[in-house]
Amino acid sequence: MRANALIREALYPYPSDLIIATKVAPEYGPNGPTRATAADLRAAVEENLKTLGLERLDLVYLRIGYMEVPHGESLAEQFEVLANLREEGLIRHLGLSNVDTAHLAEARAIAPVVAVQNHFHIARRDEAAVLDACTENGIAFVPFFPLGGGRTDVNSERLARVAARHAATVSQIALAWLLALSPVTLAIPGTGSLAHLEENIAAGSITLTPEDLADLA
Ligand SMILES: NC(=O)c1ccc[n+]([C@@H]2O[C@H](COP(=O)([O-])OP(=O)(O)OC[C@H]3O[C@@H](n4cnc5c(N)ncnc54)[C@H](OP(=O)(O)O)[C@@H]3O)[C@@H](O)[C@H]2O)c1
Repeated sequence: MRANALIREALYPYPSDLIIATKVAPEYGPNGPTRATAADLRAAVEENLKTLGLERLDLVYLRIGYMEVPHGESLAEQFEVLANLREEGLIRHLGLSNVDTAHLAEARAIAPVVAVQNHFHIARRDEAAVLDACTENGIAFVPFFPLGGGRTDVNSERLARVAARHAATVSQIALAWLLALSPVTLAIPGTGSLAHLEENIAAGSITLTPEDLADLA
């Protein structure tokens, strides 16, 4: 909730075109992640509304698992709770995080899904089928750790080669590669540096060539 306090301090009153995405997730206990109950999920949504100073949340992701995709685990019970909160008017749109294609299909049978946030970057391409499913269905795909949490050193030789061709940095190429994958991809690089923020925004203007994409494939 510290992030919400900072968002509110910096941006309230919110511009009408601002979309704030939030995520409700299992707590990480001493024995690993715990499964969120209906009461936990409702409380998390209400807490987000209160701390952000909103009457309705624009986008709420249901995160299942913790960093890794819990294959085979049903999300229906939890997603139904959020779908009901959406029906009540407390949430505008629903998203998912850390899911596979089976989870996505299970959720979409309950309520519309507008965004999926999964662990994905140039050096970690698991669950590419989720990206394909998002592209097919016009669902935003939001790779988390788009810069590998700061690990763009992986694949650095190829990245450096492409970066040199564009007079760009390897981080910019890692972001441009994500954006080139699909029109539904949104990049959310994190930074505490203004210079990096500007660099990351500029990465959105880099157009990779077929030769670049072949080098990075
Ligand atoms: N859904 C989930 O389960 C989940 C899990 C983890 C993260 N996330 C989300 O993913 C988003 C990104 O996470 P993240 O910030 O930890 O990872 P990230 O964006 O992959 O990497 C951030 C790291 O990259 C560095 N960096 C950023 N821009 C750079 C640039 N232009 N050149 C060189 N280094 C650069 C940052 O350092 P500087 O500060 O020095 O720039 C920081 O160390 C966040 O919104 C986070 O909430 C979601």
